[in-house]
Amino acid sequence: MSSESQNPLSDAFVASALAQINEASDESALQQLKVNLIGKKSELAQLSKTMGSLGADEKKQLGQSLHEVRTQLGSALDARSALLKQEKLNAKLASETIDVTLQPRGRKLGGVHPVTQIQERMSEFFIRAGFEVANGPEVESEFYNFEALNIPSHHPARAMHDTFYFDSEYLLRTHTSSVQIRAMQQAAKNPENSLPLKIICPGRVYRCDSDQTHSPMFHQLEGLVVTESANFAQLKSLIQSFLSEFFGRKLDVRFRPSYFPFTEPSAEVDLFSEESDRWLEVLGCGMVHPKVLENCGIDPSVYTGYAFGMGIERFAMLYYGVTDLRLFFQNDLRFLNQFA
Ligand code: FA5
Ligand code: MG
Repeated sequence: MSSESQNPLSDAFVASALAQINEASDESALQQLKVNLIGKKSELAQLSKTMGSLGADEKKQLGQSLHEVRTQLGSALDARSALLKQEKLNAKLASETIDVTLQPRGRKLGGVHPVTQIQERMSEFFIRAGFEVANGPEVESEFYNFEALNIPSHHPARAMHDTFYFDSEYLLRTHTSSVQIRAMQQAAKNPENSLPLKIICPGRVYRCDSDQTHSPMFHQLEGLVVTESANFAQLKSLIQSFLSEFFGRKLDVRFRPSYFPFTEPSAEVDLFSEESDRWLEVLGCGMVHPKVLENCGIDPSVYTGYAFGMGIERFAMLYYGVTDLRLFFQNDLRFLNQFA
């Protein structure tokens, strides 16, 4: 370096200093340069120490020159520092970019189980027709599941139910008819306000039974109407309207005389399944047996009733064209996703 370029006030010195500043590649290199160029031990600092020995004019001139150079280098250092910071920030932002064009993984919504969908569709019809929804426990006593329904312990109908017993008194309800009893008992407490009675009870029931059309846990929708003038024609017409509205198309329907200890007369209803090429029983029904009304405290000489118990899975089978009812409970997502 020539002596001229070592003079910190020379153009060459300043140009070289500015070049170094602009080449500084990071903050620590820049910091070092700052110390060297304008720090306490820099040549500029050395030079300013000589001012004491100068005359007033020279002192003023040197002071001005020193100030100009210091200011020039200082702002170059600041500008470079700001630039380095900005570049660092840009690099950080670039490396942390979220690619908004990437396909989202999506949020999978669950679907309502097909049996629940059918249960809701069935209930809606009756709710529109003025029925109230009632509920009862799934763990039931012999009294509500059998005794009050006119099925004493030695009655052969008990064997038809394939009951899961807990002990000699409690069991898993085998049908929703137990809720009829609870509803009628309740109504009998306050007949003026509670009768006529129109309820449905959709719910789970259990029987030790399993094949293409039977499952150990299944659902029924019970219906009960108690008025002073209920009759079988009303029952039949209600069921027929329900069937035609539910399926929205004409199906082959068969009302078949049957027997239940708690209804008299009784019938079962079969629908013809095209998919299975067979009749499928979908419900049992009948006029509430006077003995059952009496068991609940309702006077059978004043009131009559009709009731029905529909197999919800059977309706789901027919509605969706499913030929094996057990598919509804195997939790195979390939099957269930078709109904979501
Ligand atoms: C009854 O359970 C009577 N409580 C119905 C009733 C109510 C009659 C009110 C009169 C008055 P049943 O055992 O037939 O009846 O069952 C009724 C319906 O439930 C059957 O028609 C069938 O659709 C369905 N069902 C019966 N067992 C099963 C099962 N294991 N799996 C799936 N559905 C079944
Ligand atoms: Mg039956």
